[in-house]
Amino acid sequence: MAYETLIIEHEEPILIIKLNRPNALNALNSKLLEELNSALTDADNNDSVRTIILTGSEKAFAAGADIKEMISKSFVDMFYKNFFSNDLDRIQATRKPIIAAVAGYALGGGCELAMRCDFILAADSAKFGQPEINLGVMAGFGGTQLLSKFVGKSKAMEMHLTGRNMDAGEAERSGLVSRVVPAEDLLKEAKAVAYKIAEKSMLSTMGIKESINRSFEIGMSEGILFERRIFNALFSTEDKKEGMSAFIEKRTPKFEDK
Ligand code: CAA
Repeated sequence: MAYETLIIEHEEPILIIKLNRPNALNALNSKLLEELNSALTDADNNDSVRTIILTGSEKAFAAGADIKEMISKSFVDMFYKNFFSNDLDRIQATRKPIIAAVAGYALGGGCELAMRCDFILAADSAKFGQPEINLGVMAGFGGTQLLSKFVGKSKAMEMHLTGRNMDAGEAERSGLVSRVVPAEDLLKEAKAVAYKIAEKSMLSTMGIKESINRSFEIGMSEGILFERRIFNALFSTEDKKEGMSAFIEKRTPKFEDK
């Protein structure tokens, strides 16, 4: 399917979704979010996709929700029409892992979009921030909840209240990103990680993703029980037999998602 705001590259078994509104620094408008939802739904339904990379340009992952689209909106438009309501929820509903490969600006909704992915690999050029306060509003894609979980209350509060940006080094030190790599290597590194994940059993991959994401929704003992039940369930799979046998036989496992 051809998209207006995305460039899709399918390098089986990974799918690269590139946000592509270069004249607006990939600002997230309704069209882009609708297309992103559609691309993620297709990816989830396509057996030849095992890992997804979401990326932007060298200059911007995404500079936020589209201010030019929002400027004419009233409270009634936003509230009654539930504008942007479920748009980013699709990302978390995606069962296959999504790596955000972030270079340049990831601001406002762009930072929130990255945080909704499973983990963030950052270029040394990356800049993260929640500058909505400078527009007389506040984060609306989950940024107050997510950033405080990732970097702690103090830094999240400072970021949201001042609107200042965090560079890649600070983002790595504070736990927002998994790793920082030179900007020119970002996609290469993201693909290497994506291929590594794609080699594993999708049953384990989906179980781990669901279990870690569950930790943001429920308490510790419920979360540990949830994890244990998925762990128990994985003992019914062919891939568990294959993985453990391969270890004993000193060979590389060949997983078949069974
Ligand atoms: N929405 C719409 N257009 C945007 C945009 C945005 N969020 N960010 C950048 N653009 C547009 C600019 O208007 C400009 O377009 P024109 O050439 O037509 O003027 C083009 O992208 C290039 O941007 P700049 O000329 O501003 O580039 P720069 O290098 O000088 O500055 C920047 C880059 C610091 C990121 C600056 O563009 C900026 O501050 N952008 C807005 C960031 C922001 O406030 N984001 C939060 C949005 S609100 C939100 O996201 C709410 C939410 O949580 C859901």
